[in-house]
Amino acid sequence: MVVEHVIVGLLCLSVCYAATPVGHLQPFGFHRPAGSFVKEFTLDNAPTPLEFSNNFVLPKNAAVFRGNLANEPELKHWTNDYIKSNYGELEVRLRALNESLPDPLGETHYGRDTIRHFVDNMPSSNSYVVSELPQQMYKEFPVIPTLVTCGGFPKHFAEVDIWWNGGGGTSLLHEDSFHQLSCQMIGEKQWKMVEPGYEDLVYEQVEDESEGGTDGGASEIDPLSVDLIKYPNISKVSWSNITMHPGDCLFIPRGYFHQVNSGRGNNLAVAIQFGEFGDDKSAVDFADCTGDIDMKTPKLLSEFDVMWKWNGSGYMNFGMPDLEHIRAEALKTVIECDKDCSLSTFERVCNNEQQHNWYRNCTTIFKTFDSDLDGKLTTKEVENATWEQLRVYGHEVSEFLEVNSVLFECTIISLREVKKLLKQEIGKYDYLTRKRWVTKYQRILAGSKFYGERIFTQLVGSEKTDKVRSKDIT
Ligand SMILES: *[C@@H]1O[C@H](CO)[C@@H](O)[C@H](O)[C@H]1NC(C)=O
Ligand SMILES: *[C@@H]1O[C@H](CO)[C@@H](O)[C@H](O)[C@H]1NC(C)=O
Ligand SMILES: *[C@@H]1O[C@H](CO)[C@@H](O)[C@H](O)[C@H]1NC(C)=O
Ligand SMILES: *[C@@H]1O[C@H](CO)[C@@H](O)[C@H](O)[C@H]1NC(C)=O
Ligand SMILES: *[C@@H]1O[C@H](CO)[C@@H](O)[C@H](O)[C@H]1NC(C)=O
Ligand SMILES: *[C@@H]1O[C@H](CO)[C@@H](O)[C@H](O)[C@H]1NC(C)=O
Repeated sequence: MVVEHVIVGLLCLSVCYAATPVGHLQPFGFHRPAGSFVKEFTLDNAPTPLEFSNNFVLPKNAAVFRGNLANEPELKHWTNDYIKSNYGELEVRLRALNESLPDPLGETHYGRDTIRHFVDNMPSSNSYVVSELPQQMYKEFPVIPTLVTCGGFPKHFAEVDIWWNGGGGTSLLHEDSFHQLSCQMIGEKQWKMVEPGYEDLVYEQVEDESEGGTDGGASEIDPLSVDLIKYPNISKVSWSNITMHPGDCLFIPRGYFHQVNSGRGNNLAVAIQFGEFGDDKSAVDFADCTGDIDMKTPKLLSEFDVMWKWNGSGYMNFGMPDLEHIRAEALKTVIECDKDCSLSTFERVCNNEQQHNWYRNCTTIFKTFDSDLDGKLTTKEVENATWEQLRVYGHEVSEFLEVNSVLFECTIISLREVKKLLKQEIGKYDYLTRKRWVTKYQRILAGSKFYGERIFTQLVGSEKTDKVRSKDIT
């Protein structure tokens, strides 16, 4: 009997040891059945803004708003044809579906495309749009009553983004630095949400400050094939499986880990990123939430101001900081400058601050905030500064991001390559024409027409000159 027990025990030990963990090398989520800790609402029982704040935003609980936009007439406008014919000229930011490839070339620039060109190329595209939503489209986007029927949430809308692909996009398991309300407009997405309290088990990447380093905020695991032997703690992670259909919105609190998979075919979501309030309940004002509040009617986003908007061309403000946070920073500088905050004192304090970018212009900052033009900055002036003033300050103090500009191409086509091609071309002919150069630049270096033109203009010193003698190029 005793011997038999030992044998059974040994057998179990070897079987248990050899067994691979459930869900090993399968997509994230196969390690254990999905839980149902994410609350779901319809328009009939959705929380009021104050309930939403107390039960979801402050304690950081996710929530699904099923079909809240389904009956809005604007939802019918979210088709490729409608968007292309009404907003086709506007530009959006473009990225490669394969994360290891650089941002692809759109109609005009690397990392940029016009909506028209993106729609026309969608069936064959290996790219997707992750961009600020052009503000011209705010009138097409209804916002759920829970966020906007009353209360001060709209005073904290930081940025509105559009995620758009032709099918099959996949994200890392990650968390974001703003709260967001993501609404599905076309197609379906599957969201895998990690239950709060399990963040320590997701193998978050260590933040790497160096060039090309990771931001932190994302898990090391491959979400399509999770190595549960290398990452055993994942087996314990409680998660929920949420499928989003057009007209549904999902609230994802700041710091909440999630992994997203787009379904097959055209897929578009719009996400409002809004402020982080910490434990500061007073940050959002609900004084107007009295009497009968209309919890049935969404309001169009165009009724509200957003901290960082985008008009479809020029410099994008993707990933800029919360204006209310940078107001607090500006206040610190003024407080440090104390009672005598004249231009010269302010400049001294401002230029002495650590970690500031080289192009910050403290004179511009001073002039921006000195609303009464008396040559003195007061804390009142900063406390009372408008978003327009804070945006100027935000641009001064934030890093310049190539991905937000049309200069991105400079970072992927090197000066050395351009020089080499130029040398070849002027070696071949007596004259170099603008047209030939641009064609070669596009064909050989896979550059954009925009940049080819720009290089030629720099070379000859004028936009009007289209031909230059090879001998004259040095
Ligand atoms: C999640 O839900 C979707 C839709 O109901 C289903 O197709 C999918 O298999 C589920 N995923 C997992 C890992 O349970
Ligand atoms: C992504 O691009 C890299 C670099 O070109 C390549 O090695 C890899 O196979 C690609 N991955 C996929 C899934 O296509
Ligand atoms: C696994 O999780 C525990 C906490 O539950 C933690 O102490 C441990 O460091 C984690 N292991 C790894 C490899 O991250
Ligand atoms: C967008 O704004 C830029 C300046 O930021 C301006 O040059 C451009 O003309 C504007 N474009 C549209 C379509 O309004
Ligand atoms: C800073 O901005 C002021 C105007 O606000 C301008 O006169 C000055 O030339 C700028 N300084 C630099 C270094 O660009
Ligand atoms: C604050 O701004 C408002 C409107 O911009 C203005 O009416 C008010 O006088 C300002 N208050 C102070 C103390 O500057």
